[in-house]
Amino acid sequence: MKEKTNIRDLFSSAAERNTFLKICAPMVRYSKLEFRHLVRSYGTDLAFTSMIMADSFCKSEKARLNEFTTNEEDTPLIAQFAANNTIDFLSASEMVYPYVDGVDLNCGCPQRWAMAEGYGSALLKTPELIADMLGTVRRNMPSTFSVSVKVRLLSSTDHKRTIDMCRQLEATGITFLTVHGRTAPEMTKVPVHKDALQEIKQSIGIPMVANGDIFTLDDAEQMYLQTKCDGVMTARGILSNPALFAGHSSTPVECVKRWLNICQQADTDITYQCMHHHFSFMTESLLTKRLRYELNNLSKEKQKVYEFIQTHLPLDGVVDDVGSGRQYPEKISCTYSERNYRERTTVVNGGRKDDSTAASAGSLYDPEASEGNFFQSKRVELDATTPALDGDGESTVDGVDFMDGGCILFDE
Ligand SMILES: Cc1cc2nc3c(=O)[nH]c(=O)nc-3n(C[C@H](O)[C@H](O)[C@H](O)COP(=O)(O)O)c2cc1C
Repeated sequence: MKEKTNIRDLFSSAAERNTFLKICAPMVRYSKLEFRHLVRSYGTDLAFTSMIMADSFCKSEKARLNEFTTNEEDTPLIAQFAANNTIDFLSASEMVYPYVDGVDLNCGCPQRWAMAEGYGSALLKTPELIADMLGTVRRNMPSTFSVSVKVRLLSSTDHKRTIDMCRQLEATGITFLTVHGRTAPEMTKVPVHKDALQEIKQSIGIPMVANGDIFTLDDAEQMYLQTKCDGVMTARGILSNPALFAGHSSTPVECVKRWLNICQQADTDITYQCMHHHFSFMTESLLTKRLRYELNNLSKEKQKVYEFIQTHLPLDGVVDDVGSGRQYPEKISCTYSERNYRERTTVVNGGRKDDSTAASAGSLYDPEASEGNFFQSKRVELDATTPALDGDGESTVDGVDFMDGGCILFDE
């Protein structure tokens, strides 16, 4: 079993120091082990996995291998699950327990496919089901193990509705909760409702993590001061600048070099897509529009991306103490038992064995099957006015929508 960090103590110790926890958000396809390693080296106190489908995790070894990897240094770590019933959430939590410091239930994903299946923000319509899922996991896991939930606002004006729900969830004994300060239909253009976050924080006793629109360390500090939250979580900001929590206003070149070193050392453990997308996001402020276009459209060979980065960014002479100075830690070989899950589903199915095969279980949701909306929203299109040659390193960054073409807030 991996050495554990007590998340409750982590929050208490931050509070004693009159500060807040700096948290890297769960991000489908992006909050992977290698990226967690990078952001931890820049002041991130707590990291989440990407959202993992609990039912696939329970049924399929292939899904587990694809969706979850870790190493001894990958702590404090919370595994986030999408689940729509207690058996899946409890069984997945038990299975991942040896390798993480807590589990989190996703009640925020507003994507149509998730809503249709009763996952993510669809659960906000049935707080009693969320409470049942959280309460069951809380009762069945050691008290030092963190159980948490990530929700959105139920209304942008009637804060009492969200407060009532948060109190109901708090009563299940969870360790902390994260609130994304928007309602499910609200797009990222709508500013986060900090007044709601502040009221929620005042109304509950457990730590609250505030999420939404954090792009600099100053934004995080302002969020802390204005809402009195216990932790601040960032998603899009840390994709664009993984060194955000260390106080860098944009990605330092050294961070790009660190990512290059990590990717080269992790080698086949990281997919082309994950490696490439992160390079695209973090170099957005460092490359001209034409170079960003070239980077987006490279042929799918890792070596081509490494060469591109080494050619177009001034990495020579940049010292990366973390990535190059030592060997990247080995992955832990995780082993899981499906026994509890199989027993529970056998009972529920009236004595019939759950007949879903491992192969079909893993196919419900495959983020790598496409490039994803977030990457697509950042794709650079060139037109006749784009200079053929780069200026003297001067960035021509403009006109790329920061996020969500249409009502896409979440990246599937
Ligand atoms: C690419 C991408 C993937 C995301 N994946 C998840 C996820 O797996 N689980 C989750 O709860 N939220 C997910 N979100 C939502 C973020 O965690 C966060 O709540 C939202 O982006 C608002 O924070 P921000 O303003 O810092 O981006 C994702 C967001 C983005 C941009």
